[in-house]
Amino acid sequence: MVGALKARYTLIDNETMEQVGLPGIEPTEGLPGIDISGDILVNGKWEKGGLRKLFGCEVFDQASGNSANCKSAITYIDGDKGILRHRGYDIQDLTENCDYMDVSHLLLDGELPTQEQRTAFESQMVKDMNLSDTVLKVIGSHAGNPTKKPMAILASAVSAAAGEGDGSNPRRMIGQMAAIAAHIIRMKQGKNSVIAPIEGLGFSENFVTMAFSDDDYRYVCNPVVAEAMDKLLILHADHEQNASTTAVRTAQSARQQDEAAEVAPALTAGVVTLAGSLHGGANQEVLEQLNELANTDTDLPLDDRIDRIIARAKDKDDPFRLMGFGHRVYKNFDPRALVLKQFVDTLLSTMGIQDERLDIAMKLEERALADPYFQGKKLFPNVDFYSGIAMAAMGLEPELFTLIFAVGRTSGWIAQAEEQTASKQAINRPRQMYMGETKRSVIAPV
Ligand code: SDX
Repeated sequence: MVGALKARYTLIDNETMEQVGLPGIEPTEGLPGIDISGDILVNGKWEKGGLRKLFGCEVFDQASGNSANCKSAITYIDGDKGILRHRGYDIQDLTENCDYMDVSHLLLDGELPTQEQRTAFESQMVKDMNLSDTVLKVIGSHAGNPTKKPMAILASAVSAAAGEGDGSNPRRMIGQMAAIAAHIIRMKQGKNSVIAPIEGLGFSENFVTMAFSDDDYRYVCNPVVAEAMDKLLILHADHEQNASTTAVRTAQSARQQDEAAEVAPALTAGVVTLAGSLHGGANQEVLEQLNELANTDTDLPLDDRIDRIIARAKDKDDPFRLMGFGHRVYKNFDPRALVLKQFVDTLLSTMGIQDERLDIAMKLEERALADPYFQGKKLFPNVDFYSGIAMAAMGLEPELFTLIFAVGRTSGWIAQAEEQTASKQAINRPRQMYMGETKRSVIAPV
């Protein structure tokens, strides 16, 4: 019988000696899975209902490091081999031969675009970079609050933009996210004018122009900056089921098929999750750590300052972490960090920028990777370690860095949310291990 269920795994309760057979899941790449959610072999008969119902137990996987809660065909990562592929294409291949519009089309529709598809796709994305007065007012409402965090402003504006239109075109949020981020950058840099997208200019060129133009519109987009920005957007476009993508997919899972088009509201969940300093907010922290290394205790030799920061990172009693190092999945190297390291070097030399922080970063990386603590815990530079130096070279302050991460990740978030809806998977509802009080009464029995 084709596709007959097979109990690839057996689960035995060593106390009761009860046992069940569990089917496997064979992905196209990566480790096989044990499917505990569906049919289970109980006393020689396949029953429906899952492990809880048929075997009376749950699995506990703290922070989900060992379990999958969805099937996806968008991105594959092998953390030990440092592999990152989108729809089968290696990230190195994509950054060398494609641009962000190609990669966005690939993530969303499963294939790289033909020239005709690409022209139509980019033209639509650029049109979607026009912001409504409502969204502009939401962004402007934060102008009087200089300490307001850019990612918090982004979340409020994305939420406003998400509610616009009839929800039938969630992909409009790729252009909206870029335009909102560009306008926040302008506002934070003290510029008041609104720069509209220029038809005929590419997506990344428009994003850079909208973000960096002066109020007198004289800015001519520097192609080197536009190309570097495009590479950054590619490198941040998607990354399997990371924290912010999981938030987006969970938000989307709460929407029925007919609401599915409203992917946009789910993006707000992604933005607020990405802002965390352990996640997308790390790029800002990396620059702040490099700035500290460059500017404090400069009477001490740089090596001593680096040794001090590494000692703090290793000190169990010190909550300090070396930002830009370590990863939930990559336990060898983050391929994006390798690509970034190469192109940051080229970017700085092409722009004729001497940034001592790049030298400090490379020295810090060298010292950390030679240290048994980092080797033992498999802590290597991740995507955030070098990205900040590139963004600083473009003239962005560290507090603005995560905005760029969010712009790049938007096409991945939308692709993942659309896949979530198409899967018709039930609403995400993890279980828990309850460790609280057992039943008790307000009025103790006399
Ligand atoms: C992103 O998931 C994704 O794909 C995310 C992302 C994406 O594209 O979406 O790749 C983007 O979020 C990149 C990560 C950016 N964050 C940082 O650079 C922040 C610094 N890194 C860490 O906080 C940490 O490495 C994490 C959060 C990234 C990963 O943490 P893990 O894998 O859960 O590891 P852990 O926190 O359990 O730490 C394991 C050990 C601990 O020591 P012990 O308790 O075993 O003694 O390693 C130590 C940690 O203290 N450790 C570090 C460290 N990272 C982990 N020690 C010093 N410095 C660090 N950076």
